[in-house]
Amino acid sequence: MNLIVTENYENMSRVAAMELMGKIVEGKEKRVNLSVTGGKTPVRMYEIIQEFLKDNKFENVHYYNFDEIPVKGGSGLTMDTLRRLFFQPCRIDEAQIDVFDEKNYMHYDKKLEEDGGIDMIMLGLGPDGHFCGNLSGTLNGFGEGCRAVSNHLNERIEKRLAFLSGGMDKMADYYVTFGPATVMGCKKIVMIVSGMEKAEILKKVLEGPICEEIPSSLLRLHPDFTVIADKDAVSLLGKK
Ligand code: PGA
Repeated sequence: MNLIVTENYENMSRVAAMELMGKIVEGKEKRVNLSVTGGKTPVRMYEIIQEFLKDNKFENVHYYNFDEIPVKGGSGLTMDTLRRLFFQPCRIDEAQIDVFDEKNYMHYDKKLEEDGGIDMIMLGLGPDGHFCGNLSGTLNGFGEGCRAVSNHLNERIEKRLAFLSGGMDKMADYYVTFGPATVMGCKKIVMIVSGMEKAEILKKVLEGPICEEIPSSLLRLHPDFTVIADKDAVSLLGKK
């Protein structure tokens, strides 16, 4: 594992933007498949990338969302976020966006393989140690590929999803996510982490046992796993 520590959120965003841009530039020569994250951590990174992408087109780069929360009568929440934060401001062509959703998740590992695999997945760290939609308490071992997870597994998950969906009546029965085997099959994994509120969970992810309760602990077993974290997020590492 490679841990890059930055002074603050701004610098974390710059380093993460450089990682992403490094891969995007490879798209000048060949097809590059990137799976990217929504959430609040990458907001600044996408702003930085916007500047770089505004005068450059890298048409061989394909972008994949890695989870989706369907909403009854509406569009998926993850794609909505990615379009707002990244695809629209950076004017990414529709032909470069590969939509993963509740309709295609069953065949998606095969599709990813046919597309040549994901060259890099950039993800955030959830407060319970989740990566993508692999929340603590939802895993059935580490062997599953793209998967559907019931929105009714427990009260905490149900409440959270109802909130995100805009109410119980709009909430679908399940959401979909790249599973642990899908993510471990990506050629490179980059995790971005910022802030004191992530310090405790990052410590468990990097220094605790590798276990299903802390899903992201699994990522330590990947041969090309980089964590880009600011000083606050790493403040508990190496301490009792
Ligand atoms: P965040 O989300 O970037 O909004 O903290 C991370 C996650 O929940 O995967």
